[in-house]
Amino acid sequence: MKKKVVSLLVAAMTVASLTACGNSGSDAPAANQEPAPAEKQEADPAPAESQAEAPAESQAEAPAPAADGGTISVGFAQVGHESDWRAANTKNYQDTFSAANGYELSFVDCDNDHAVQIETVRGFIEQELDYICIAPIQSAGWDTVLQEAKDAGIPVLIVDRAVDADPSLYTTALGCDMVAEGEAAGNWLAEYLNGGDANILVIEGSVGASATLGRTEGFNNIVSQNANWKVLDSQSGDFTQAGGQEVMESFIKSYSDFNVVVCQNDNEAYGAMDAMDAAGITYGVDGDVTIISFDATHDGLQYTLDGKITCNVECNPLQAGFAEDVIKKLQAGEAVDAWTLVVDEAFVAPGITSKYAVTMSQEVLDGRAY
Ligand code: AHR
Repeated sequence: MKKKVVSLLVAAMTVASLTACGNSGSDAPAANQEPAPAEKQEADPAPAESQAEAPAESQAEAPAPAADGGTISVGFAQVGHESDWRAANTKNYQDTFSAANGYELSFVDCDNDHAVQIETVRGFIEQELDYICIAPIQSAGWDTVLQEAKDAGIPVLIVDRAVDADPSLYTTALGCDMVAEGEAAGNWLAEYLNGGDANILVIEGSVGASATLGRTEGFNNIVSQNANWKVLDSQSGDFTQAGGQEVMESFIKSYSDFNVVVCQNDNEAYGAMDAMDAAGITYGVDGDVTIISFDATHDGLQYTLDGKITCNVECNPLQAGFAEDVIKKLQAGEAVDAWTLVVDEAFVAPGITSKYAVTMSQEVLDGRAY
């Protein structure tokens, strides 16, 4: 159905969100300074780093869309199809916002193109959809189109990644704490090396994405606490296997003295392993190079179980249920949290025990839903 007018009281939410931001105390973009929810909706046990103070709520004050029981239209401007994580996230949204569940989902794969994503959101506004979900390719550049959605009275959910726009311009945000993920990787490495030197190469994710900015910031927070660690180089592999392989091949030409490779997602790690295999460089628990990865998808955790990726920090892609909870609350005219944290955990190869991570086993792998 076409949307009816929905007006949200966002002022209180805005004040609370701004107050809750800035927990890192750094000058990083606001997108990475993520407050945690009052009503935490946990997908997995919480790592210690993921806790913070609670935001206020917003309240629907007018009849919600589809209050008559009709189909609810939802637009989803997805990042693209760059990774296994993204495929799992897309499937989760398509399964959740299905016709059988009472939704009409307009799904657009924006192919990692920010301009396409902005125009996609504009199209959703023109179509007067009931709700808009945006997984932002990059954190900057959102103010104008978010203002347009707000002017049109369409609730916007910022999902997975963050934006650095004023929170009064959107209804709610949900996703993982990317800074905490980077810190978890760094804390685990400090524990693992136990005072040993680290010459580190970083294969970053897509430029300008909050997942990249947050993981980089969080990991660097721990690097700065370890005087004998050095980041030799840090380049974008665009969250793809091909990108990871290309960056690793170029690193291998320039550096011979590295002992740690940090890949900001599993697909980059697969590419980096291909490059090291071709160069005869050994890696993993029995090799010369320690690989840290992010996402903890099924295949990534298989490599962790096999001892090739030594530590894999989760980013849970099963987030659509949190978005649906928000929409259901708005439908019922209830208040919603300004921010919902999707909680992660980390995993390490068999034979390693860590206070920061779960030791991998076949049982853990068999229990994975993605
Ligand atoms: O925003 C989540 C990140 O985006 C995942 O780590 C990565 O695999 C995806 O491309």
